Amino acid sequence: MQLGDRHGRVATDLRVSLTDRCNLRCTYCMPADGLPWLPSEEALTDAEVVRVLTVAVERLGITKLRFTGGEPLLRPGLARIIAASKELRTADGRPPETSLTTNGLGLDKRLDDLVAAGLDRVNISLDSLDRATYARLSRRDRLPDVLTAIDAVIASPLRPIKINAVIMRGENEQAIAPLAQFCLERGLQLRFIEQMPLGPRHEWVRSAMVTQAEILDVLHQHHTLTPVDEPRGHAPAELWRVEPDTRPGIAHAGGTIGVIASVTHPFCAACDRSRITADGQVRTCLFSRTETDLRTILRSGGSDDDLAAAWVGAHASKPAGHGIDEPTFLPPLRTMSAIGG
Ligand code: 5AD
Ligand code: SF4
Repeated sequence: MQLGDRHGRVATDLRVSLTDRCNLRCTYCMPADGLPWLPSEEALTDAEVVRVLTVAVERLGITKLRFTGGEPLLRPGLARIIAASKELRTADGRPPETSLTTNGLGLDKRLDDLVAAGLDRVNISLDSLDRATYARLSRRDRLPDVLTAIDAVIASPLRPIKINAVIMRGENEQAIAPLAQFCLERGLQLRFIEQMPLGPRHEWVRSAMVTQAEILDVLHQHHTLTPVDEPRGHAPAELWRVEPDTRPGIAHAGGTIGVIASVTHPFCAACDRSRITADGQVRTCLFSRTETDLRTILRSGGSDDDLAAAWVGAHASKPAGHGIDEPTFLPPLRTMSAIGG
């Protein structure tokens, strides 16, 4: 069985949210006071998560697992869940690829355990290199902790290392050039992300979103960029190659920078993702307004066949696209932290 839909897409990449909690309060994601967190009995247990992943990988054709939150490092069982998922085998006999999307806080201390568990890659969120700007955007003064984590990942075997940055008008446009320089000097793959309407209610206005075109304009002022022609495949980021630079003070060996233009160049037609929330709900799209409840099936003695059938049924009606730019668009009923990036 596979997770196909009516638009010819097949999901092979599963985003697994392990908690809705976070130790930051990024303004585009959460209100200052946080959110009413899921009561712990509503979240899937480690064993339930592993059962869901087993069905996904061994029956439904999922080959990639990305662990997200909220902040996935807040899940005590994270390394155990990764280790268990590495025991699974896809249809061609391989373990699934595993990655983590994290804000980085405390990652340095957990890294050896996560690598030993079989983690393959990390994406770290970093929206500014200026301490005051970082603190304003994330509402926590934790930039030094993130930088420590990035140094630790550079010293680890995990590759490639991706850095995610959301740019907002009047907030952190000044971060574009320094983030590019920082990542190019260190061989990190930077990806700018257009802000999506996934945060606190009614906060997103299209005009405050900094578009891919604007981000590229800033980058062009500092670098020679050439579009990477390789087919984008299922990757949401469009990539640009940056030529090496030898000018003193800004020297770097070249690299690639990506922009995820979810709003101005949506990649919905190539989407290969499925999602499961920390409370065991399948979402076929970040922007779904409906969910499919696997937790009830798990907790009422349902079989693996029952779980698989419910998941396949959910995907059959995966929407063609998110329609953010259409007048009829309605944002999802949960924020990014509760859905899982
Ligand atoms: N728009 C775009 N990206 C977002 N993220 C969180 N909320 C939004 C949003 N409203 C990103 C974070 C992180 C990943 C989990 O999702 O920056 O990199
Ligand atoms: Fe936490 Fe990520 Fe949301 Fe920031 S964007 S508050 S790091 S879940």
